[in-house]
Amino acid sequence: MTRIKLTVDGQQVVDDVEPRMLLVQYLREVLGRTGTVVGCDTSNCGACTVHLDGRSVKSCNVLAVQADGAEVTTVEGLAQDGQLHPVQEAFRECHGLQCGFCTPGMIMQSIDLLRDNPDPSEEAVREGLEGNLCRCTGYHNIVRAVRHAAKSGAQTSQEVQA
Ligand code: FES
Ligand code: FES
Repeated sequence: MTRIKLTVDGQQVVDDVEPRMLLVQYLREVLGRTGTVVGCDTSNCGACTVHLDGRSVKSCNVLAVQADGAEVTTVEGLAQDGQLHPVQEAFRECHGLQCGFCTPGMIMQSIDLLRDNPDPSEEAVREGLEGNLCRCTGYHNIVRAVRHAAKSGAQTSQEVQA
């Protein structure tokens, strides 16, 4: 077992984990943060996307021990004081989801995308989300939601206050 110490959604955590444990397993099975989901386990779907030190990663592709000392934000850490993050709000307003399974990863990836490009074209949004798969929506409303978040001038870089 290896001891890791990190911040998850603004909370400091310390745990002993097996070196082979994936970050997504750690978040779900040890911390109970089941908002981050597993859609494939083969790094294809993006449903497990979280932020590691502010950048999006597929947490099924990262070992928990690699997050030692890092700051991790999951979809569960986005809302502040009962207010949805602007990108969450945009997904809600634009109906950017159906079953919702891909949504946590889509939102985390969208925030990262908007940080790099605050006013992306439709093409840029589609390109930025190409690592995230959705079985339901046809992507149209997801793209609309991301562009709506950008156009609303919302503070999309809002993260968890430690
Ligand atoms: Fe990580 Fe699909 S569960 S990419
Ligand atoms: Fe169902 Fe995307 S909303 S997988």
